[in-house]
Amino acid sequence: MLKARALPKVLQNLRLPAAAAPLFIVSCPDLVIAQCKAGIIGSFPALNARDEPGGPVMLEVWLKRITEELDRYNQHNPDRPAAPFAVNQIVHRSNERLERDIDICTRWKVPVWITSMGARVEVNEAAHSCGGIALHDVINNTYAKKAIAKGADGLIAVAAGAGGHGGPQSPFALVREIREWFDGPLLLAGAVSTGEALLAARVLGADLGYIGSPFVAMDEADADPAYKEMMVKGGAEEVMTSALFTGHPGNYLRDSVRRAGLDPDNLPKDWDASVMPDDSPLPKAWREIWGAGHGIGAVKSVGPAAEVVDRIESEYRAAIERMRAEIC
Ligand SMILES: Cc1cc2nc3c(=O)[nH]c(=O)nc-3n(C[C@H](O)[C@H](O)[C@H](O)COP(=O)(O)O)c2cc1C
Repeated sequence: MLKARALPKVLQNLRLPAAAAPLFIVSCPDLVIAQCKAGIIGSFPALNARDEPGGPVMLEVWLKRITEELDRYNQHNPDRPAAPFAVNQIVHRSNERLERDIDICTRWKVPVWITSMGARVEVNEAAHSCGGIALHDVINNTYAKKAIAKGADGLIAVAAGAGGHGGPQSPFALVREIREWFDGPLLLAGAVSTGEALLAARVLGADLGYIGSPFVAMDEADADPAYKEMMVKGGAEEVMTSALFTGHPGNYLRDSVRRAGLDPDNLPKDWDASVMPDDSPLPKAWREIWGAGHGIGAVKSVGPAAEVVDRIESEYRAAIERMRAEIC
């Protein structure tokens, strides 16, 4: 029998044990608000809120809109309030905005902070200073231990098959190794795009599933219609792994590589993405080479983000019933 773990309050009472993953370029306030109203944690990367010269600070604008709209929604729906939202910080030294963005997120009391690419004590402390929690994403047990040692409250295990910079390890191995020493909040990413996968994630020992790719194809997502169409048409075979475009292994749609004029089976070998000049003829990851995980076969049509949550919930409840009937 699953042993119930005590989760931080902000991760309790969700309609489904799930969080929407932050998606570079794609996640925007409309998508986050729709995810939260649908009852799962919504999220966006802070870097998606880009300032225009002479314009307002867009991260402030986004946080004001999300906070106010969810507050209004909660006042009108006290019986079914929206889930909290999360902001993703790329905490790597190359992120020149980090200090400013941390300051803004602290002032707006962001409830869930998702950190990626190198754990940082000061970011976790900032999250705690405003009453938030920090979840760090990791691809192996070593990084998981480092993240907790640096003060993260919880972990996001990014396993094989995840969209974007997916990890190389099987979720079975990764969750098991982390659960041998860590009893705190644990989310699992990597093709958690169905209710069956969400239940499996929980059986493995994760508290919540972390769902990215299915939301790319949704109405509210800031993605090219051709990208959405590829997500709907594609399956796991249409996803390829390459480190060519960012310097780190990432999962991308083969068709987007073709569309950008490259042969996915014969990619150039001699590019160093980390020192790529701005005028590089190599297409840009995320803008032209589109990220996707192995779970896109579950995405059958473009529609409102709430439909993804509705579908996963009904699959999840049916899977629980099926397992109950088979096992009990
Ligand atoms: C298009 C795209 C963009 C992504 N951008 C980010 C990002 O900016 N920050 C981040 O931490 N993870 C990013 N990810 C990874 C997701 O947050 C998450 O780990 C992954 O989507 C989960 O796997 P799934 O796509 O199989 O659901 C991205 C993934 C995709 C597909």
